Amino acid sequence: MNAHTDPSSLYDALDPALRFPADFCWGVATSSFQIEGGAQEGGRGESIWDRFCRVPGAIADGSNGDVACDHLHRLEEDLDLIASLGVNTYRFSVSWPRVQPLGHGAWSEQGLNFYSRLLQGLARRGLKAHMTLNHWDLPQALQDAGGWASRQTVEHFVDYARGMAQRFGNQVEAITTHNEPWVMAFLGHETGIFAPGLKDRALAIQVSHHLLLSHGLALSALRADGCKARLGIVLNLAPMVPAEDSPQDVAKAHLEDGRLLRWFMDPIFRGAYPQDVLDHLGADAPKVEEGDMRAIAVPLDYLGINYYSRSVVSAGEPFDVNSSGLPLTDMGWEIYPQGLTDLLLRLHQDYPVPPLYITENGGAFPDRLADGRVHDADRIRYLADHIAAVGEALRQGVPMAGYMVWSLMDNFEWASGYEKRFGIVHVDYQSLKRTLKDSAHWYQQFLQSQRRHGAELASAQETVQVGR
Ligand code: FCB
Repeated sequence: MNAHTDPSSLYDALDPALRFPADFCWGVATSSFQIEGGAQEGGRGESIWDRFCRVPGAIADGSNGDVACDHLHRLEEDLDLIASLGVNTYRFSVSWPRVQPLGHGAWSEQGLNFYSRLLQGLARRGLKAHMTLNHWDLPQALQDAGGWASRQTVEHFVDYARGMAQRFGNQVEAITTHNEPWVMAFLGHETGIFAPGLKDRALAIQVSHHLLLSHGLALSALRADGCKARLGIVLNLAPMVPAEDSPQDVAKAHLEDGRLLRWFMDPIFRGAYPQDVLDHLGADAPKVEEGDMRAIAVPLDYLGINYYSRSVVSAGEPFDVNSSGLPLTDMGWEIYPQGLTDLLLRLHQDYPVPPLYITENGGAFPDRLADGRVHDADRIRYLADHIAAVGEALRQGVPMAGYMVWSLMDNFEWASGYEKRFGIVHVDYQSLKRTLKDSAHWYQQFLQSQRRHGAELASAQETVQVGR
């Protein structure tokens, strides 16, 4: 390389879709209830998911999170596994009932100690921590007192967030308040397919408001406390595509976009719920108190986006995904990487977004472990195409800061139990043995090439500086 090589030209010369900035955050993601197990250990309180798993028929295979991946007892092994992938970031969540069994009042030293060991273990391995405070496993004691439908839970969440940030705020890169408030509110309280299993639309709407409010209040409280971690929230978003070009389908898609995306993005970035959705909700609109909307609209240091697929919306019969000709994952979700680029461009255009992270992306596939290998070519293709979609958004000016695979390892997939495997690491639920799938080997190699590229960029930069 000659002394006057411009590093940006070097960047441009490489396949733009798969070459990322040297400081790009690459990670794998998990959540507490889905991997930890140890449900009755160390004084952990009951969570709403423990309770929900006992409802007959709630979980496809009748399973629960009592053992899950037994991560609680395999922490060091799992941290080695994460480090071996070559990622620089690990996204995990804290089990609120493990650290504060009743959701308020007394803290559990044993529970806190687990996360302290987790964070020390990450630091020793040079890995950054993205810590989520609420990935759905609300303490059952708070549910018994009204759960997220009660404003008391908002206060308890803020206290919990402050307690965690005071203890761990200087050991984590980022703190996420909530993972996917849409799922908690609507799948938990309107369709009832997730914990706590309620079916009441007005309640679900109120829950969504309280989740947003607790997010905003927690951010302000943490900042007032001097927390140094970067603060944000994670939303599940998808482009809503009308099935046909008819005015009915287009109108329905716009409304669904309002209910999924604008319902959360508008209050956070514009301080107001979208009027068309409020009109649609009528008497079910949330009860909003003086000052709530201001509290919600506090600036974010980053926004996390979980992307899996697009949604095709029809005003008539529900759209049949088998009719689109797109390949499907084992969840029956269309594989549509272009939707990720479209979504990111749209967010960047419509809202004053901070740095964006893809905090979850991945696919469930019917993996088979044979002779110590899992040949999950479909997952490799899925990941490569979605990473390329992120690269394309970056190239078009979207402030992308990171990408994390869902998931590090196979785990308890909520209402699907252990039947759906999202991991790049296979878990044998009898022996609990972990085996890297081909996709994990692919990710390792991909990340190695990114590091080589980063080093090339850095040395080109130095060369330019020396040459000047
Ligand atoms: C997301 C959840 C995550 C995982 C994936 C497949 O909605 O945040 O826990 O279950 O879906």
